[in-house]
Amino acid sequence: MLIDKIRYRIFPRSLLARILLIIILPTIAAQCISTYMFYSKHWNDVKRYMIYTLAGEIAFISEVHSKVSRTKMEKIKAYTFLQYKFHKKRRFIPTDTKLPKELRILKNNLQYNLPNNNIDIKFNKYSGEIEVDIQIKDGVISFDISKKRVYASSTYIFIFWMLGSTLILLTLAILFAKNQIKSITKLSTVATKFSEGRKVKNFIPHGAIEVRNAGYALLKMKEKIEIQVKEKTKILAGVSHDLKTPLTRFKLELELMDQNKHSSEMKKDIMQMEKTINDYLEFARGENLSSVKLVNLNNTLKSILTKITPKNITASFIENNVIYLNIKENQFRRAIANLVDNAVRFAKSQIVMKLYEDTNQVIIELHDDGPGVSNKEIGKLLEPFYRVDNARNQDFGGVGLGLSISNDIVSRHKGTLELLGSHMGGLLILIKLPKG
Ligand SMILES: Nc1ncnc2c1ncn2[C@@H]1O[C@H](COP(=O)(O)OP(=O)(O)OP(=O)(O)O)[C@@H](O)[C@H]1O
Ligand SMILES: [Mg+2]
Repeated sequence: MLIDKIRYRIFPRSLLARILLIIILPTIAAQCISTYMFYSKHWNDVKRYMIYTLAGEIAFISEVHSKVSRTKMEKIKAYTFLQYKFHKKRRFIPTDTKLPKELRILKNNLQYNLPNNNIDIKFNKYSGEIEVDIQIKDGVISFDISKKRVYASSTYIFIFWMLGSTLILLTLAILFAKNQIKSITKLSTVATKFSEGRKVKNFIPHGAIEVRNAGYALLKMKEKIEIQVKEKTKILAGVSHDLKTPLTRFKLELELMDQNKHSSEMKKDIMQMEKTINDYLEFARGENLSSVKLVNLNNTLKSILTKITPKNITASFIENNVIYLNIKENQFRRAIANLVDNAVRFAKSQIVMKLYEDTNQVIIELHDDGPGVSNKEIGKLLEPFYRVDNARNQDFGGVGLGLSISNDIVSRHKGTLELLGSHMGGLLILIKLPKG
């Protein structure tokens, strides 16, 4: 559990960040390991052998200087690339310069090669000049050593190339990864739109073969779902429609019969059945043919409230300014009427509707002071035919379609409908509709 929590905190959430981590971490690790191996082992060895060779050459020249002729000495000098001057009869004056590690190795090596000679190395930290003085029999030889023979100057160039090329390759990798992610992001946006019942235009799956396959599978799934829904609603519409005819006949026959207590009870039942069938039909019809028009929302909402609210309930309407919105009015009225109908049915004494807007959306809140709905059930209310605690509802004779019809209509207006707990104790319906 704790490990999971830590993992959740440490690891980035987005796919791109994860992929980059997968690329960058091994690259950095590989660079560190190779740099360590290169410097601590190989490069140190190379440096050491450079110093040994240099020490050997200096020792060799010091050894033979007084033994061979001048011309021979010139030849030897040319072979070794060493610059030196011989100071005849000069006194050897040792200095006590603090030497870097490489020069200490050089001095030790020279001392080992020339155990009987005095050796001194002068090093100028700032100019980088190195002078090696060796005392021989008849004077002092001063070697002017190039820094390149002790230090490898290509080190920085190597690091520069290593970091530079890594940076370029990483940038390329990031660009390619980003491109790959794009197709996945597009797929998830499309899937979200499908799930919200919104239309997606011209979706052509692209990207890596796996992502493309997922895209095609999504399209196929959407097609299948649409066919299934269409078939189901067709059956529902057919059944409801067919039931309407005998119901109308019952109604007529009842009117012709003698009016008594039984007939009025039957009339009530038939009316209830008619309402239910009309609900089914409305639900099955789905797409509404009415067109969008600019409507004064304040007036529309107020008129619904006054029409539906019974006398024993107080309905308040809280508004700031007049809001106009493009809506399919009939459908929208039905959506709000369903919600108000529920609210007044469950409210103890009052319901409150608020209408306001922010920069890009219009918000409608509907509160009631009824019993509300438990958190466990609130998520299921939008499902068609779902009714909380049927015993509580029996008297009302609904079918459980009102909320799902309202939700459907709101989402067809590109809005969202949420069910929450109201501060008044009952249910809060929160509708958000995009402007424009
Ligand atoms: N304001 C509310 N307070 C408490 N419960 C509610 C409220 N609104 C809805 N419900 C619960 O949600 C269920 C579903 O509501 P919905 O409007 O979909 O169906 P219904 O009202 O039962 O039937 P109808 O199809 O006639 O509207 C209701 O049966 C009720 O239990
Ligand atoms: Mg209802």
